[in-house]
Amino acid sequence: MVKRLARYWGADEDFLIRAALLHDLGYAFGGDGLGHARISGRYAGIAGCDRITIRAINLHTLGGPNMSLEEKLLFLADGIEEGRHFPGVEEIRKLAFVNLDQALLAFLRGTKVYLVKQGKNAHKKSILMEKEIKRRTCGRTDKTNRSLYDRKASQ
Ligand SMILES: [Fe+2]
Repeated sequence: MVKRLARYWGADEDFLIRAALLHDLGYAFGGDGLGHARISGRYAGIAGCDRITIRAINLHTLGGPNMSLEEKLLFLADGIEEGRHFPGVEEIRKLAFVNLDQALLAFLRGTKVYLVKQGKNAHKKSILMEKEIKRRTCGRTDKTNRSLYDRKASQ
């Protein structure tokens, strides 16, 4: 998924493959739940990865504001990979190749709904990510109001 997304959106494919290979490394070192991302990032650093790769790995579970294209693609690819099954995931997988902002917002919204059903709240970083995308796109992510990354889709 991440390789296809990288090619489609013109992102750094080598960077994303490296980050994708290491992003769940933390599970092998006792990490679980959301904490595995930080542990993965720590071990990626020990393995010699640069801070940009470490940041992408750290953000892959919760997201955050002002993420790079590559960070967003790692985050989204992880959330909608083939092993994930949740309502709307097929639609988000298609949307990921049409409108990246809309796909990210749909994924964040779906995560929030899931968490609320579990009696939990969305994490602050995810909320900030959602707000930033909405602010940047002025809340409009339909095809008549394309955001920065959607230009490629219209070419
Ligand atoms: Fe992960």
